[in-house]
Amino acid sequence: MTKLVSIRGAVTAANTKESIESATRRLIERIYFKNALSDENIVNITVSSTADITAFYPVRAIREAGHDVPLFSCVEPSIKGSLCGCIRVMVTAYSDVPTKNVYLNGARVLRSDIAGAYAIALDGPSGAGKSTVAKLVAKTLGVTYLDTGALYRALGLKALENNIEPTDEVNIRKLLTPANVKVVLDNGTQRVIVDGDDVTGRIRTQEVAMAASKASALPFVREKLLDTQRDFAKKNSVIVDGRDIGTVVLPTAEFKFFLTASAEVRAKRRYDELMAKGEKVDYNTVLNDVNARDLNDSTRAIAPLKKAFDAIEIDSSDMTADEVAARIVATVKEDL
Ligand code: DC
Repeated sequence: MTKLVSIRGAVTAANTKESIESATRRLIERIYFKNALSDENIVNITVSSTADITAFYPVRAIREAGHDVPLFSCVEPSIKGSLCGCIRVMVTAYSDVPTKNVYLNGARVLRSDIAGAYAIALDGPSGAGKSTVAKLVAKTLGVTYLDTGALYRALGLKALENNIEPTDEVNIRKLLTPANVKVVLDNGTQRVIVDGDDVTGRIRTQEVAMAASKASALPFVREKLLDTQRDFAKKNSVIVDGRDIGTVVLPTAEFKFFLTASAEVRAKRRYDELMAKGEKVDYNTVLNDVNARDLNDSTRAIAPLKKAFDAIEIDSSDMTADEVAARIVATVKEDL
């Protein structure tokens, strides 16, 4: 249902024409992108700037960027202790997605409720390099990494160990009810505990991955693991990888990325990884597994693998993990 909404945003800039122009344009672009807006949805945009912004009119930057919408600007009173060099906007628009306010380049401090922790959602198919990239990003930005696949893998492992078919709803339900799946951090490293049993070291096999993929299609499984994931993200600044983080688990994540790569490249990466670990595998089997898991993960009825409309897509086929991580870090730093 389309609603009339007000979206807030702010950015800081130096008092030069170039800085005001680029900061304002970026703020408007980000607000449009994160709220799926175009000029047709806009009722008006109101802009205020602190009294030290004198080199250029921020509204002019919006007009000159080609936005043919009603604009209004004003200067804020100088209040001691307030953020300097700040441009704020209020965008009134018709929208049918949850609204997202946007604070860039240090302006998050204006909102004590959001200035602390932030979340980066990293979704994509298996083998796109999410976990390698997430670890690098976590280290560089000093945030905590949550690997949500490990939760589904833990359940897949328990199913295999108990000779339960991962699609057997009745028995998986029995397993999940007492199987209190928990994530704990041990020196910054994630460990997954099921019913007091630390399964972390036993979940990285192809067999477990396939069982996880099947069990993850059961709606009650997803429902049950939702709170575990959200609670974790509430406590820390996080990078969370998975299939439905930007769409379902953390739809309001400040940053969303969707990492892809061709099935062949992903299979080759998985193959190298498994061989390095001493698992005897055949490339074609790995490729078939990748394709089968893609199909399972993207066609299930609940929370299928899907790019969130406001996620930035990165095709990592011809990029190293370091390059992908650098791209993510740069985007995040640009906004913080
Ligand atoms: O990312 P991974 O390979 O460790 O994930 C194992 C399986 O778990 C994957 O095939 C699908 C499922 N999964 C999911 O459905 N949702 C997530 N957020 C993470 C994983």
